[in-house]
Amino acid sequence: MTAVRCSRWSVGGSALVRHRPSGSVAHVSLLLALLTLFGTVQHSHGYLDDRQPVYLEAKIGSYVILDCPVDFPQDEPIPYVLHWNKDNKPVFTLYDGVLNAYETFIGRVTLLNNDILYGKASLNLTSIRESDNGWYECKVIFPNRVPNKRNNGTWFHISVLGGTLLRIPPVNQTVLEGDPAFFHCVVQNPETMFVKWYKDNVSLLEYYDLSHRSMMGPDGSLTINPTQMSDLGFFTCEVRNTANDTQSASAYLNVQYKAKVVYAPKEVYIPFGESAVLDCHFRSNPPLKNLRWEKDGFLFDPYNVQVGKRCLVSLA
Ligand SMILES: *[C@@H]1O[C@H](CO)[C@@H](O)[C@H](O)[C@H]1NC(C)=O
Ligand SMILES: *[C@@H]1O[C@H](CO)[C@@H](O)[C@H](O)[C@H]1NC(C)=O
Ligand SMILES: *[C@@H]1O[C@H](CO)[C@@H](O)[C@H](O)[C@H]1NC(C)=O
Ligand SMILES: *[C@@H]1O[C@H](CO)[C@@H](O)[C@H](O)[C@H]1NC(C)=O
Ligand SMILES: *[C@@H]1O[C@H](CO)[C@@H](O)[C@H](O)[C@H]1NC(C)=O
Repeated sequence: MTAVRCSRWSVGGSALVRHRPSGSVAHVSLLLALLTLFGTVQHSHGYLDDRQPVYLEAKIGSYVILDCPVDFPQDEPIPYVLHWNKDNKPVFTLYDGVLNAYETFIGRVTLLNNDILYGKASLNLTSIRESDNGWYECKVIFPNRVPNKRNNGTWFHISVLGGTLLRIPPVNQTVLEGDPAFFHCVVQNPETMFVKWYKDNVSLLEYYDLSHRSMMGPDGSLTINPTQMSDLGFFTCEVRNTANDTQSASAYLNVQYKAKVVYAPKEVYIPFGESAVLDCHFRSNPPLKNLRWEKDGFLFDPYNVQVGKRCLVSLA
């Protein structure tokens, strides 16, 4: 009998070990995109331009697409730097492949550089809040070229609508299990408005455990402390005024935790010379980075599997 132990760093799913003729090893690794914070501030000079500004309207809690092209000289793709400013303050930059969002825009902007419908410098600004009202400029700079600009930038004006009840809606959040989570739900007038929170469309009060770990601030915002794996889901805040008008907005809470093996049989009896399956179930968030099998305390790979044992490790 052979003891094969399944060790950690894996996700929800299941891994199988098959014993079959010939030796090989399973090794899965996922590259995690690394977002490094990087700061550059470039101020723009005035609203004059050859292009007409684009006027957009967006409701609180919704999203808006700011469609901006990268106008390559001679249509030849060359390196570029991207600056998005709002009222002369940085919103978002792309510099040397590093994306960076600033202050109140963190977690709310996505660059649509691979969407055929929109220009490569376009932004998706989500979870619209009242303060998003204003002028935005998209500037594309070609650092290795003289002149390094082709035009003066593209201007957008966002008018935020429907802020009668909600001023700041919640924004998606990722936390480590055990850390606190915080969701905005700032109402226009806390004196005359009531906030109710839901998780996955069920009133928060109906989650006995979660409601005991949650606290609502005077402005309607929600703090969960400490978070648990099971808190993962959609949180919705619903604002109601005395006239019974309502407005709601949702955000997703992602709770990350160390990988755990949830089930693996302790002993498996395998008929000599036949294939067998060793089962290993695991859970993890973020997804699998590395999964390893050990045999008798050693990494199970082709180099330390003896010839003649005839084992194959594969992932299902
Ligand atoms: C913009 O983001 C919103 C919210 O995540 C999403 O529903 C929408 O599909 C996105 N739009 C585009 C064009 O990616
Ligand atoms: C929030 O997270 C959900 C679930 O992952 C996703 O569908 C949605 O697009 C995200 N919204 C924003 C604004 O990123
Ligand atoms: C930029 O704007 C100025 C006026 O502010 C104008 O004279 C100039 O032609 C513009 N440049 C381009 C490339 O559009
Ligand atoms: C909550 O309700 C909305 C709208 O009725 C629905 O689209 C969504 O799938 C529901 N979410 C869950 C987690 O049940
Ligand atoms: C407000 O709406 C709730 C549920 O939709 C209802 O039960 C209640 O009677 C309404 N109150 C008023 C004052 O209309």
